[in-house]
Amino acid sequence: VSYVRQKEPLGLGHAILCAKPLVGNQPFAVFLGDDIVDAEVPCMKQMIDVYQELGQSVIALQQVPGADISSYGVIDGERMSEKRCWNVKDLVEKPPVDEAPSDMAVIGRYILEPEIFEILETTERGRGGEIQLTDGLKTLLESQKIFAYEFEGKRYDTGSKLGFLQATVEFALKRDDLGNDFRDYLKNLQL
Ligand code: G1P
Repeated sequence: VSYVRQKEPLGLGHAILCAKPLVGNQPFAVFLGDDIVDAEVPCMKQMIDVYQELGQSVIALQQVPGADISSYGVIDGERMSEKRCWNVKDLVEKPPVDEAPSDMAVIGRYILEPEIFEILETTERGRGGEIQLTDGLKTLLESQKIFAYEFEGKRYDTGSKLGFLQATVEFALKRDDLGNDFRDYLKNLQL
């Protein structure tokens, strides 16, 4: 295992750029630690299968209704005949709800082509004063296709307190060694 630290909070695009010396000139996977996906086939495995078929960057996608869309990168795109895949035409980071190009949000799993590194080196600070991966991907679209994939599985946003608690409780309830005792505990809880 090798690791790098991002020494300043300059955004997701900058964080990925910090890993350039470790990754080199090959496609690579990105997992955002605060997005947890519970699925029979792991979300990234589903995406690797898509990558192996289509051979270009793949980003995870989920429909997000209503005003929540402005917490995400949002795509404009066309659904392809393989019904979980989208051909991405444009991306925008955290748009106001009335400017969102769709209700399809980018979730924190990506398979990226290494050309993204050069692009991130010159990507200006965007939303929130940070170097945004979404802005880098928008530039990558000028020279390469990007596919978005509606993964199968349940996603938890553990970056929010409620999402963190939901993930903790639901994963605990599913455990063979803990589930029954924890369920009894919750049922009998009197506060
Ligand atoms: C990041 C990305 C955003 C993406 C989201 C998924 O935002 O910038 O495009 O939709 O992760 O969780 P963050 O949640 O880190 O602000």
